[in-house]
Amino acid sequence: MQLSHGSPEVIAEISAGLMAAAAYTSPKYLYDGLGSKLFEAICELPEYYPTRTEAAIFACHGAEMARAVGDGATLIDLGAGNCAKAASLFPLLQPAQYVPVDISRDFLAGAVAQLQQRFPHIEMTALGLDFSSGFALPDSVRAGRRVFFYPGSSIGNFSPDHAITFLRGLRLNAGADGGLLIGVDLIKDHTVLDAAYDDALGVTGAFNLNMLRHLNHLIGSDFDVEQWKHIAFFNPEFSRIEMHLEARCGLTVRWPGGERSFARGERIHTEDSYKYTRQSFVNLLERAGFATTRVWTDEEQWFAVIHARVI
Ligand code: AVI
Repeated sequence: MQLSHGSPEVIAEISAGLMAAAAYTSPKYLYDGLGSKLFEAICELPEYYPTRTEAAIFACHGAEMARAVGDGATLIDLGAGNCAKAASLFPLLQPAQYVPVDISRDFLAGAVAQLQQRFPHIEMTALGLDFSSGFALPDSVRAGRRVFFYPGSSIGNFSPDHAITFLRGLRLNAGADGGLLIGVDLIKDHTVLDAAYDDALGVTGAFNLNMLRHLNHLIGSDFDVEQWKHIAFFNPEFSRIEMHLEARCGLTVRWPGGERSFARGERIHTEDSYKYTRQSFVNLLERAGFATTRVWTDEEQWFAVIHARVI
């Protein structure tokens, strides 16, 4: 058994998921250093259409998006990473303040320092926080018109109920004249969806399996990656891609304070990625207190970028 490096809360959360009758883990544990790099590689795969399709929508309709958002806004970029997506829109959006938010503040700090040189007239305030479970913006974020930017279809990694709760939180933080510019992945031919999450090179498989290495680091477990197999498929009943890790043989995983036996074929559910129709997402936004003003899509209607205002 190895040393555990997670906080007591993290260890308790992971252990509870592994001990559940149907074992599960939070998809946030897909992203250690290697996991983040593997996700960047996924975004380059021919099968993984969301990143390039969304980028093409921004490139084609950026000017209209800027008109819908209006200039001089406070642009709050959720899960900003290297800030590249938002930065590509700066010349059109002309925000007064840019607020990138990400779990790793250190990573953001480097990206923001470079951006500030390119756009010296935009005030930039980086925030290092986990926004997925609710947050309140500090006073350093201007109270003027706040527009949340949430690209990449990351909203799909929440269940619809959780997405509504999350979006309601954004609405409260946005204020009366605030808004949202969000990327949403749309339902399409299931073979396209399946391939996007089970690519020929096995990069998504490596991304999923790498979670086991990360769990070993966090809770001191002894998962052997070679005993597990990547599974991903579209489940039409819930309109979501499901990712699982399946035991290749009967095995027992041990960690300080716990152990769990898995029969051959038993799975750990690691991620959901919900897919919407335009209308089902517009309805969800409405339930969260947002009115949709514009929807932009690609020719094949595979992906949508939506602007909505606080109701
Ligand atoms: C980050 N998120 C939007 C990705 C998705 O498509 O759900 C994560 C991912 N999982 C496997 N491939 C990509």
